[in-house]
Amino acid sequence: MDYHEDSARGAWGSKLAFIFAAAGSAIGLGNIWRYPMMVGLNGGAIFVFVNILAVIFIGFTIMLAEFAIGRHTRKNPVGAFNAIKPGTPWKLVGYLNVAVGIGILSFYGVIAGWAVGYFFKAIAGAFSRDLSWKSSDAIFKNFSADPLVVFVCFFVIIALTVFIISKGIKGGIEKWSKILMPILFVLIIFLAIRALTLPGAGRGLAFYLKPDFSKFNFTVLFFAVAQAFFSLSIGNGSNDDLCQLSFKKRQPRLFDTLVAFLAGIIIFSTLFASPGIVPGEFKADTGLMFQVFPMVLSKMPGGYVFGVMFFTLLLVAVLTSTLSLLEVPTAFLVDEKKWTRMKAATFLGALAFIVGIPSALSNGGVKLFTKWGVMIKMDFIFISLGLTVGALFISVFLGYAWGVKNALKEISFGNSRFKLKFLWIFNVKYLAPVVIVIILIVITNIF
Ligand code: TRP
Repeated sequence: MDYHEDSARGAWGSKLAFIFAAAGSAIGLGNIWRYPMMVGLNGGAIFVFVNILAVIFIGFTIMLAEFAIGRHTRKNPVGAFNAIKPGTPWKLVGYLNVAVGIGILSFYGVIAGWAVGYFFKAIAGAFSRDLSWKSSDAIFKNFSADPLVVFVCFFVIIALTVFIISKGIKGGIEKWSKILMPILFVLIIFLAIRALTLPGAGRGLAFYLKPDFSKFNFTVLFFAVAQAFFSLSIGNGSNDDLCQLSFKKRQPRLFDTLVAFLAGIIIFSTLFASPGIVPGEFKADTGLMFQVFPMVLSKMPGGYVFGVMFFTLLLVAVLTSTLSLLEVPTAFLVDEKKWTRMKAATFLGALAFIVGIPSALSNGGVKLFTKWGVMIKMDFIFISLGLTVGALFISVFLGYAWGVKNALKEISFGNSRFKLKFLWIFNVKYLAPVVIVIILIVITNIF
């Protein structure tokens, strides 16, 4: 196995290309859309700080746990729990994973649809003249409140995802994403430099990077942990059948956090450089990324080209994420229920679309849904709660039902230099479940 990995790695040409390749599968709206929003909603720099710790100590712990289960069983979540503990209620966790995947896809698809709309706006030159906050905000509000446009874009994303999954040609897109993600990364660095040199960018940076530790509380911890799971694509068993990716190839997901971090630099430097927008008073919402990225693009020399490139590459990144979200439930129906791939993907895509309708209408399409804040509630239920509960079960399953000894056999297979073993055992058996139980208790009391 080691040989295999090393030769595959050599073929990548360089270590950097390899890191990009591994990170590509996790990068998506979680980094560019959700991370800055969560930073904005949770006190700025304190969230950034806690999230980094959460990624390192809890995110990677659970990722490795999922990976061990996946490598051992090579199955969808239901099949995986069934294979290790047959005839026990553990397979219910697999069902939870499947449901969470569809739930996330439902509103993730709507946001992905917004990205489709913005891609066309970029082509039409909507971000070429210098945009103020006011005009950018107006563009977003007009766009997202138009049910017809939003539905068409949402449909395009779901249809494309279903098509690719049912044909089983996901690998092709993922190869493209490996080539294109480095370009997206370089583009993001350019945008970050532009944002940092805007007059007044310092206010945003202070908000983003100077933690106010008195703002720490369990709500911040909860959202920081959930965001770590979401961004790393864990907590719904989607790593279970990605067994071909080795442990080593998963490590570079630290890179995933770097992309999110840079997206935050861009957003907060640009946002708080605008006159009248004050950190502390500003309330972030689901539109944040779509309001702010056009502003910085419009302030770039050659902004038109950068804008079209940015939204093109973003769509590739987003598509790899929607594919992985649909793949898990599809694998479940195909493997466990013997459906054809086509039937499974179409059914699940239609389901995600129907479940996503209220989210699609929650930005002004239907007043009641707007008032309820349906989209942000869906995000809370499926990402913040769904993935966190999923991760809790995974750590308990691995730590106490399957046992770390068995898991370690899987992990060290092909990787004899697993030095952080004891830290991982401690984290998976104690730290992760205890922290997750505490935050879930605190959060469910609050809500
Ligand atoms: N990590 C992806 C993003 O950042 C989203 C994603 C894809 C995901 N597959 C997942 C999240 C599985 C949780 C579980 O956009």
